[in-house]
Amino acid sequence: MKIAIGADHGGFNLKKEIIGLLEELGHEYKDFGTHSAESIDYPDVAIPVAEAVAAGEFDRGILICGTGIGIGIAANKVKGIRAALVHDSFSAKATRQHNDSNIMTMGERVVGPGLALDLVATWLDTDFEGGRHSNRVDKMSAYETK
Ligand code: RB5
Repeated sequence: MKIAIGADHGGFNLKKEIIGLLEELGHEYKDFGTHSAESIDYPDVAIPVAEAVAAGEFDRGILICGTGIGIGIAANKVKGIRAALVHDSFSAKATRQHNDSNIMTMGERVVGPGLALDLVATWLDTDFEGGRHSNRVDKMSAYETK
């Protein structure tokens, strides 16, 4: 899979760990930064990652900030993006099966690296179920284009 990944300073360390996992799993990725612990504004990373995923340049995106919340709110402003905050294994699976989420967000200040890497692996490995869930996703897409 081709993955776009990005973080603000609050998610910078976890991003490095996740990149290690992506390499181990053999996924292609592009790191959209940030590349240091210096403070930045999370929309400056979230929006380029979300636009690249929405444009079809990447299959999925992963965004990390301190909580996973701000970076997810910003990503969800981009049409075509369904960014989901994932901090537990049930949600990691369910948001792929039910919401066809195309971006996963996490908070480095919320989850430890061990759990975070498990969540990424689960989220990447779970397919959308379609069926009744397609109607719901289609309604959100229709709203975005009206
Ligand atoms: C940065 O201090 C922090 O506000 C940011 O990483 C994130 O948690 C915002 O939602």
